[in-house]
Amino acid sequence: MLAKTHIREIDWHDLPAIMSIEQASHILAWPQDHFHSALRSNNVCWCIEQAGKLRAYCILLPAVDNLEILNITVAPDDRRQGYARQLLNAASQYARAHGLQQLLLEVRQSNHIAQLTYQQFGFIEISRRHNYYPLTVGREDAVVMAYPITP
Ligand SMILES: CC(C)(COP(=O)(O)OP(=O)(O)OC[C@H]1O[C@@H](n2cnc3c(N)ncnc32)[C@H](O)[C@@H]1OP(=O)(O)O)[C@@H](O)C(=O)NCCC(=O)NCCS
Repeated sequence: MLAKTHIREIDWHDLPAIMSIEQASHILAWPQDHFHSALRSNNVCWCIEQAGKLRAYCILLPAVDNLEILNITVAPDDRRQGYARQLLNAASQYARAHGLQQLLLEVRQSNHIAQLTYQQFGFIEISRRHNYYPLTVGREDAVVMAYPITP
């Protein structure tokens, strides 16, 4: 169990810390303007702060029936401590409270750790998108995964 943590809305002043985690975590990191757009739109933008340090964040897109997880990232030094599980639990509670039927996400075929995280939570693979993600050289498939929300 985690020590005292706090999920809260992302604020503009969090962006330097988020960009530093983002760039250390992804093959092709989101540019800052993606986060600007998320903060200006109806996306759900949450982060976890513990002991005054930003540890993890997620960007969620509520749609008609689904809650799509657009980005979920944990700082490299803070992984395997349950932060992703905590954000997924919060997303699942949000979806249930808003009458949404499933959590949906896409993950790189090569990203086995993220797939393990989602499978462990209860996501199942529902399809693949061929050559969906750019790589530094070439492209790779996206694995589409869903987690059903029980009423
Ligand atoms: C994927 C990611 C978000 C997981 O975050 P995390 O906070 O480390 O995950 P959690 O600690 O909540 O792990 C939950 C479970 O997932 C599985 N898991 C997570 N990381 C794992 C690893 N490195 N090896 C094996 N299983 C792992 C375990 O079952 C774990 O439960 P346990 O620790 O009780 O055994 C994190 O590794 C990350 O930010 N990666 C880089 C960015 C990224 O790939 N984001 C997802 C893009 S789709």
